[in-house]
Amino acid sequence: MTLLRKDRRDSDFLTTIAQIGVTTHPGGKEATKTLFEKLDLKEGDVVLDLGCGSGRTLTFVSQSYPVKIIGVELKSELAKEARQRTQFARDRVIVLKGDIERLPLRDNCVDCAFSESVLNFVNKEKALSEASRVLKREGQIALLEITFKDKKIDRINRLAREVFQVPQFEILTSEEWCQILKSFGFCVKSIQQLPYWWQGTDKEEALVEARLLIGLMMRWSLRRFLLTWRLLFALTRYSAIGLYWGVKEPVSTS
Ligand SMILES: C[S@@+](CC[C@H](N)C(=O)[O-])C[C@H]1O[C@@H](n2cnc3c(N)ncnc32)[C@H](O)[C@@H]1O
Repeated sequence: MTLLRKDRRDSDFLTTIAQIGVTTHPGGKEATKTLFEKLDLKEGDVVLDLGCGSGRTLTFVSQSYPVKIIGVELKSELAKEARQRTQFARDRVIVLKGDIERLPLRDNCVDCAFSESVLNFVNKEKALSEASRVLKREGQIALLEITFKDKKIDRINRLAREVFQVPQFEILTSEEWCQILKSFGFCVKSIQQLPYWWQGTDKEEALVEARLLIGLMMRWSLRRFLLTWRLLFALTRYSAIGLYWGVKEPVSTS
């Protein structure tokens, strides 16, 4: 059973949220603030948002720090939305439609790269290799990703792939994140886990989530929508919001 046209029924999660026109991430703005508290940003720094979605964090960063910000977003509808949302800071914010697995940026040009709920959807190796390429020496990286609290549960990853229809979607454990970050030349400085439903009582956040849930309900089959709830319950029980901070280590010449 679908409430809308049949051809929309099987679109993947990212296409669906692009149609709805708004994005968020677990933990919302409060989790973003926690992520940014541990970053050392200086005036004029270039900050990169990998998968900026509709640009809500671009807005937060541009209002909170005197930095230049680049958002990269795969979906043109969302890149357009992010551009409109950040019009007020046009001289400091630029939004590029692009793929974080092939960043449209030159080497060593970014002081800090961050990403919120994007890397689980992409090829992590390609995205981290690109982040490392564009970061300056000792540039900072900060990630917010759903992470298994304890051990990896393949059944949940399979369920998530069925719900999102993104074949490479994969949730990792904290240990796996540390390993993969190290293997791409990052020194992990700090990690933290927040409960999956950890969230401020932000009215705007609640409205965005309601808009997303109603949008999904209108576009997806009843079965897929019910699977989404099953996934949410499983994530609440077995996963957390993982926050990771690291620094790009200088390349060893020995
Ligand atoms: C869950 S949303 C989070 C968006 C945003 N970070 C936020 O917190 O609102 C995931 C976003 O990643 C984007 N995305 C997925 N794969 C991407 C890729 N390869 N390159 C750039 N963006 C990508 C999606 O289009 C979507 O906007």
